[in-house]
Amino acid sequence: MPKPATRKLLASVAAGAMAIASPAIAQDVSMQEYIDLFEPLPALPPIPSGTTMSAERIDLGRMLFFEPRISSSGVISCATCHNPALGWTDRIPRAVGHQGQVGDRNTPTVLNSGFLEAQFWDGREPDLEGQALGPIEADIEMAMSLEEAIVRLNEFEIYRDMFSAAFPGEDDPVTPQNVALSIAAFERTLNTPNSPFNRYLMGDEMAMSEQQVRGMRLFADSGCVACHNGPALTDSNFHRFELPGSTDEGRFVVTGDEMDRFAFRTPTLLNVAVTYPYFNNGSVDNLHDAVQLMGDQMLGQEFAEDELDDLVAFLHALTGEMPRLEIPALP
Ligand code: HEC
Ligand code: HEC
Repeated sequence: MPKPATRKLLASVAAGAMAIASPAIAQDVSMQEYIDLFEPLPALPPIPSGTTMSAERIDLGRMLFFEPRISSSGVISCATCHNPALGWTDRIPRAVGHQGQVGDRNTPTVLNSGFLEAQFWDGREPDLEGQALGPIEADIEMAMSLEEAIVRLNEFEIYRDMFSAAFPGEDDPVTPQNVALSIAAFERTLNTPNSPFNRYLMGDEMAMSEQQVRGMRLFADSGCVACHNGPALTDSNFHRFELPGSTDEGRFVVTGDEMDRFAFRTPTLLNVAVTYPYFNNGSVDNLHDAVQLMGDQMLGQEFAEDELDDLVAFLHALTGEMPRLEIPALP
């Protein structure tokens, strides 16, 4: 069900449209009300206080993101699973990490991840700094102790120099904390503000096709926007969702709260057309079926085929230009 606030908003959209006599004006006014339900994506997410986005930190973070030496096998980097050529994810249902182990969950994209107020499917980390060290240590991802990772990085003069430049004034800047700060600074640059939908929200009426505009209206009218809202089309909140065949208890694992059993954080929908397969275990491989399942489970609504087509067309309008990126030459 849409949250009360959104339901009220949607009701007022409908009432506003009816109160106006001229159909031409009604069209414009109601379109503006739809547009007001959304928020355009800014070029940069909020930068947490106490951290900076210096060029030195971003450069270092980019190196570390591609650096397989901080995995125990020496062959897995963040980019192995968050592959820039594949929408910064891996296009397989569940991530494959250290020694070919298959994890329980689908790899989310890191694009626009600075806009999320909770990281991971279960929200167990609040921010990118907190998130960054998890995969290095996770047995099924990079399986590396942080101590060992720091020893390996310290072997290279270029890393010692880059850490010093990124964290000026620190005696011993090659630390896990600074690895996290650098990777997070880099990730906050990976945004896609130039999607057709974003351009539409910024006033370019021609940016989306008629079908995509219809899809946007249906997305609002049917209540998708109750959870998929804000600049990254997620409320960063947790909602119960039972995937056929999944035993993952989601947020419950973090809080132990019965209400959270099978609840997962709403994922961003930006670039969703290129980040298949879908859902926390990657069990659905196309948007048509993903949207149908959302309608069924989250809204108790069965869409007609042409409505599904419109919604999917709208989701395609959320694909932005990929961030330009120089692939670093590692030492
Ligand atoms: C073996 C594959 C793998 C590797 C290597 C990996 N990740 Fe991930 N990443 C995942 C999976 C799977 C998840 C979701 C896990 C979960 O929710 O429990 C995830 C989640 C994330 C998220 C949260 C995004 C969101 O929408 O919640 C970020 C950010 C992220 N990873 C960044 C990184 C960084 C930085 C590194 C390197 C230090 C890294 N990942 C290494 C597979 C991987
Ligand atoms: C009650 C909140 C809620 C509503 C309403 C909702 N969603 Fe979702 N959506 C979620 C959550 C939570 C997930 C993640 C589910 C999971 O994988 O565990 C999700 C996942 C998705 C995904 C898959 C994204 C990915 O990367 O795996 C798509 C696509 C999607 N929603 C589209 C829609 C559409 C279209 C609608 C309206 C028909 C809609 N959603 C309504 C909360 C919601």
